[in-house]
Amino acid sequence: MKRLVLLAVLACSPWLWAADTLPATPSAATADAARGRKLLLARQDTGCILCHQLPGFKEGGEMGPSLVGVGERLSSEQIRQRIADPRVLNPQTFMPAYFSTTGLHNVAKALQGKTVLTEQGLEDIIAYLLKNPV
Ligand code: HEC
Repeated sequence: MKRLVLLAVLACSPWLWAADTLPATPSAATADAARGRKLLLARQDTGCILCHQLPGFKEGGEMGPSLVGVGERLSSEQIRQRIADPRVLNPQTFMPAYFSTTGLHNVAKALQGKTVLTEQGLEDIIAYLLKNPV
């Protein structure tokens, strides 16, 4: 019985690990924190600042957890997963999936099949959050 439980835990762990993290995309090599900063502040394009306190800014929303010091709590792979598709961790979340096109409803025709962030935008934002300027 004990062995069965152990086997089940071992079988599940790679899946859990994979769901919690998303590896760097090729655009990570050209990530730019200054561009990421602009994206985080773009109310119309990303809206991050409407829900989050951001490092380096006094203003910011409080619907989501503060992102000040997020790089100390989470790895870059964990941060990437949470921005790309937070539904993987919490199917009920109201944070938008910024780098996914699956499971979205009533998307305007012109935007169907497009992600909110580009791959480069995703990596630029992560670069800024990891720099954690205060
Ligand atoms: C509508 C509100 C909303 C918007 C807009 C939003 N988020 Fe979130 N975010 C949340 C909530 C709520 C959570 C908590 C996760 C959950 O719902 O389970 C979260 C969690 C996170 C986390 C994980 C933080 C932690 O400590 O676990 C990161 C990183 C993050 N958001 C980044 C971003 C970025 C970057 C953007 C913009 C591209 C963004 N969020 C836009 C609401 C939002």
